[in-house]
Amino acid sequence: MICTIRINSENRIGKIDRRLFGSFIEHLGRAVYGGIYDPAHPSAGKNGFRGDVLELVKELNVPVVRYPGGNFVSGYNWEDGTGDKSKRPRKMELAWQCIETNEVGIDEFQEWARSVGSEIMMAVNLGTRGADDARNLVEYCNGTTPTYYADMRRKNGFEQPFGIKLWCLGNEMDGKWQICAKTPEEYARVACETAKVMKWVDDSIELVACGSSNSGMPTFGIWEETVLRECYDYIDYISLHNYYGNPDNDSAAYLGSSLDMDNFIKHVAAICDKVKAEKNTDKQINLSFDEWNVWFHSNEQDKQIPKWTVAPPQLEDIYNLEDALVVGTLLITLMKNCDRVKIGCLAQLINVIAPIMTVPGGGVWKQTIFYPYLHALKYGRGTVFDVETECGFYTAGGKDIPFIETTAVCNDEENEIIVFAVNRSQDETCELNIASEFKLELTRHITVTGDDLKAVNSPDTETVSEMTVDCGEIPVLPRQSWNIMIYRRTDI
Ligand code: AHR
Repeated sequence: MICTIRINSENRIGKIDRRLFGSFIEHLGRAVYGGIYDPAHPSAGKNGFRGDVLELVKELNVPVVRYPGGNFVSGYNWEDGTGDKSKRPRKMELAWQCIETNEVGIDEFQEWARSVGSEIMMAVNLGTRGADDARNLVEYCNGTTPTYYADMRRKNGFEQPFGIKLWCLGNEMDGKWQICAKTPEEYARVACETAKVMKWVDDSIELVACGSSNSGMPTFGIWEETVLRECYDYIDYISLHNYYGNPDNDSAAYLGSSLDMDNFIKHVAAICDKVKAEKNTDKQINLSFDEWNVWFHSNEQDKQIPKWTVAPPQLEDIYNLEDALVVGTLLITLMKNCDRVKIGCLAQLINVIAPIMTVPGGGVWKQTIFYPYLHALKYGRGTVFDVETECGFYTAGGKDIPFIETTAVCNDEENEIIVFAVNRSQDETCELNIASEFKLELTRHITVTGDDLKAVNSPDTETVSEMTVDCGEIPVLPRQSWNIMIYRRTDI
């Protein structure tokens, strides 16, 4: 098969915001306890954080990490995780039906985030709580005045404010599974008033209002319109969440999941623009795709987990090659929409539907999806071109799906153009031609591929990993593969 992509210097989508490749750590399963935090582990530092996890996350260079939930946040009292550890309450955690020890809270997490070089995207509880606790939390984290909550932070040993700039107004408030879920109208009012007072405490923060929990929600569309009409002046972003899966084992259709993501983004952007026009304003609301990933492998096994235990192994999907290819196409889709999607969070980072896994008392290992995420973080820097792609299609799941999903990013600092491409074909390799006014020399071709779409990694074997391909002038994308081609511009 042959695919031609046209790169025209005039056709640019936009510059990638580094926060597009963020991630997420929730108080859920073994993400915090047994993931980033494990005082008994041989690599743990004085503060109880696992050194091996910390080093790997630091190396990944994750720009932003959403915290502390997720569904967890809708029943969370943030004060429980501050101050003297010996006095912190053990609580029933209703979202995931386990026990929260509160050994880690914002005091510790901000130290961890600082040591891995990530910004925090902090969510406030708009389930059991509301505006009052949200504004107090902003003061605790960012306050500089000699007042109660800023002083409380100082007493807890943190003279300097944490300086958290990005905040979520609750989580998935449209979902029946959410603690104290809301109708669009109920949420819109609470989000508006909470946003207002949070910004009164610190006007430098940016706020993300909850959009729909996924595009299949019964209130999708109406929810966004209602929230935007009410909150427009106070918010900066609206959120999107979506998880993809292959429960019916239809790989051809599953590999086309990114078409749904693209559609969802376009739909939400159109609603934002409709409300913008109604309001006759210049202000644009951008999108925060702050939960996305593959999630379905662990659904059945999770039903067997007993309730009310500490950090049970929940949502521990083991990913295969086809999941890595889907994650690759989703990353490409985010890049192709970088003019509107400014923030993205791969959900999640450690152990819970995650690229990184830990062995209790042992090492860390990389899931298949680690590699496309690593490559996006490393090479997805610069301006995305609106490339025209000429390739064949196949039909699966009622959709025409292009064999090749691709995008190109111009890294001006390095004089490089990086082409990201997934070959969805399970049968054919693909010769990738570039038509462009730029003179380009292929300097490196990295691929993740294999004969078995169901191949997985484990603590002992890395079956699915990155490989460098010997490159000629024209790269050949193996069948069922994720690829990064690095071209040097020789015309400048
Ligand atoms: O990421 C796992 C869960 O998925 C989050 O807690 C929730 O927001 C979503 O439903």
